Amino acid sequence: MKTEQAQTKIADLRQQLDHHNYQYYILDAPEISDRQFDEMLRELQDLEAEYPQFADPLSPTQRVGGDITKEFPTVKHRYPMLSLSNTYSKEELEDYLKRIEKRLPEKMEFVCELKYDGAAIGIRYKNGQLVRAVTRGNGTEGDDITANVKTINTVPLTLRGEGYPDEFEIRGEIFMTLEGFARLNQSRVEEGLEPFANPRNSASGTLKMQDSSIVASRPLDSFLYYVLMDEPQSSNHYDAVLAAREWGFKIPAPEKGLMRKAQNIDEIFEFINHWDAHRHELPFEIDGVVIKVNNYQQQERLGATAKAPRWAIAYKYKAEAAETILEKVSYQVGRTGAITPVANLKPVSLAGTTVKRASLHNSDQIEKLDLREGDAVYVEKGGEIIPKVTGVNFEKRAPHAPPFQYIQNCPECDTPLKRAEGEALHYCPNASGCPPQITGRIEHFISRKAMDIEGMGPETVELFVKEGLIQNQADLYFLKKEDLLPLERLAEKSAQNIIDGIAASKSIPFERVLFALGIRYVGETVAKKLARHFENIEALQQASIEELSNVSEIGERIAESVYNYFKVPKNQAMVAQLQAAGLQFTAEKQEGGSDALAGLTVVISGKFEQFSRAELKELIEKHGGKNTGSVSKNTGLIVAGEGMGPSKRQKAEDLGVQIINEQEFAQMIASE
Ligand code: IVH
Repeated sequence: MKTEQAQTKIADLRQQLDHHNYQYYILDAPEISDRQFDEMLRELQDLEAEYPQFADPLSPTQRVGGDITKEFPTVKHRYPMLSLSNTYSKEELEDYLKRIEKRLPEKMEFVCELKYDGAAIGIRYKNGQLVRAVTRGNGTEGDDITANVKTINTVPLTLRGEGYPDEFEIRGEIFMTLEGFARLNQSRVEEGLEPFANPRNSASGTLKMQDSSIVASRPLDSFLYYVLMDEPQSSNHYDAVLAAREWGFKIPAPEKGLMRKAQNIDEIFEFINHWDAHRHELPFEIDGVVIKVNNYQQQERLGATAKAPRWAIAYKYKAEAAETILEKVSYQVGRTGAITPVANLKPVSLAGTTVKRASLHNSDQIEKLDLREGDAVYVEKGGEIIPKVTGVNFEKRAPHAPPFQYIQNCPECDTPLKRAEGEALHYCPNASGCPPQITGRIEHFISRKAMDIEGMGPETVELFVKEGLIQNQADLYFLKKEDLLPLERLAEKSAQNIIDGIAASKSIPFERVLFALGIRYVGETVAKKLARHFENIEALQQASIEELSNVSEIGERIAESVYNYFKVPKNQAMVAQLQAAGLQFTAEKQEGGSDALAGLTVVISGKFEQFSRAELKELIEKHGGKNTGSVSKNTGLIVAGEGMGPSKRQKAEDLGVQIINEQEFAQMIASE
C-alpha cells in the first residue's frame, strides 16, 4: 500500500469505527457484528503500527490505554463542581420546593433523573475533541485522569455532527454495571486478590489507577447529565442534554424513563415511586433521584450556596435492610487456596429476593462486627449482588453465646491454614492435595479467557478428577478417547469433542498459557506483561525476584508469587509436561512488527509529541528491541524527546551512543 492510500484508509476506518461505537454503545443499535467490528479495529491497529507517523491519541484504537501516569496533575475547575443537598422524605422534599418557590414565585418546570452511584467527572471538549477529564476532587480542583477516561467506550473521543460548540464541558458519572462489577470481583478472588466492596469503590478505584491499559480492561460505563458552556445553545437543561446525545454522549434516555420532565410535585413523586419500586431491575446502582429546575434563567436566579446549587436537590432512597438469624458460618476454598467465610442465614426477604447467604469477606470483618453464630443480624443489599451482614442486634444476643472461633484448619483437607503478614485472607497451603484447589485450578485453566477448551466445563473437570483421570492441568493432554468412554453420561461424540478441544488449545498463545497456569496475582494483564518482557518460559522461570519486579508495573508481591511458583518442583514438573505436550511457551512475534531494532537496547528520555512513552516502549518491543531505563554501556540507541536531562546526554555522548528524535525513530521502524 502506498503511504497516501494508507493515510486515507486509516482515516476511513477511524470514522467507521467511531460510527459503529456510537451505534453500539450509545444507541444500543449495532449495525454490524462484534466480530466485524473487531476485524476493522484490528485492521486499523495493524495500519497504525505500520505507519506510526499517522498515530493519533484520539484514534479508536487508543481505547486500549497504555499511558502510565505516575501522579495525576491537579487541575482547577473552570466552573466549580458543587455537590447536591439531600432530602430523605416526602416532607423534606415538599419543604425544599416551598423554599425555592418563595425565592422565585413563578411557574417552574422540573427535570427528574436518577442519582447514579459512581464517580463524578468533568470532561472538556475543544473543536469536537476530548481534551481533558478531571475528577471532582475538592470541588475547586481535581485530578487530571484523561488517559483513563479515554478508555471508556461510552465516552466519545471525537464528537459527531456539527452542532457542538467550539469549547464546552460536560459532566456526569463514571460507574460500573452490577454485572461488570460481579465479573471483575470474581476474577479478583480467583487471582487471590481482595474483592472490591461495591461498584462505586471499584469505579473510583479504577479511575485512579496509573496504568490506563488496566483501566481499559475494566467494565466502566458513563452517563453524562450536565452540559456547561459560556454561552448556552439552549434555554434549558433538558434540551441541552438531548443535544449532547446527538454529539455522541451517553445520556439518561427519556424513552427508557431515565429522565423526565415534571410540572409539579405529584409528577416528581411518580418518578420517585416508580424507581423506588423498580430500581433493582436496573443494571447499575443508584442511591436516589435528582430533581433539577429545567430553565437556565431560573437556575441562575436561584443561584447556589457555597456547597450546592439551589436549583437542584437529591432525594435519597433508604438502604434496604432486614433482620434475620445467622445460623452458621461456612467456608469456601478458592483455587488459590484463599478461604472466604460465608454467612448462612435464616431465609429473609430483602429488596424483592429471598436472602439465605451473605458474604463476610474475611476473619477481620467477623471480628469487627463481633458476630456469633445464632445472633440476630442486619443484612443489607448495597451495590453487591450478594448482600452483606452490617451489624448485630445485641439486645437479642443469647447471654452465654460463645465468642466466634475462626477455623484453623482447611474445611476441605484439614491442613492448618496460613495467613501472610499484612493479608486479610487465610490460605490453605496444601496446593497439590486440597480437592477444591485441584479442581479450581483445572477449571480456571480450561476457562474461556485461559486455554478456552471447548467441550469441557466445571462438571467434566470434577468428574475427571473424581475418576482419577487427571490430577493437574498437564494430565489433560495425555487423555485418550478410550479413557473417557467408560465414564457414565459421556457419549462418544462428547468424548471426541473434548479430545479435539484439548488438542486445539495447543495453539493458544504464551501469554494466555501463562495466565492459565493460575499463579496467584497473575491475571490477564500481568501475564501479558510477563510474556512480552521475558519472551519465553525459561527466562521467566530463571528470573530473580529483583528481575521480576524490574518489569514495569510488576510489584514485589507479584514478583514473589511468580518466583515462588516456579521454585516448587511439582510446578516445574507440570510446566515441563505441558511443554512436552506442545503448548506455546514462547511469545509470538507481534503483528506489524519487524527486526528493525533486533538486539538493540533502547532508552527513551524526555517528552514526546507524537507518541506516549508507553507507545514508544511497545513499538520498541514490537520491532525487536529492548527498552531499559538508564543509559549504560549496553545501550544501543536513545530516543530523545524534549527536555532530556543534560547529564544523561553527556553520559550518552561519552559512551558514543546514537541519539535520535521521535521522527527519526518513526522512520527507522516504518516499512515501505
Ligand atoms: S447534577 C450542581 N445529576 O451526585 C449539580 N449529579 O451529591 C451537579 N450525581 O457530584 C450534579 N447522579 O456525582 C447530578 N443525575 C445526576 C446525578 C448526580 C449522580 C452525583 C454527582 C454529584 C453528586 C452530588
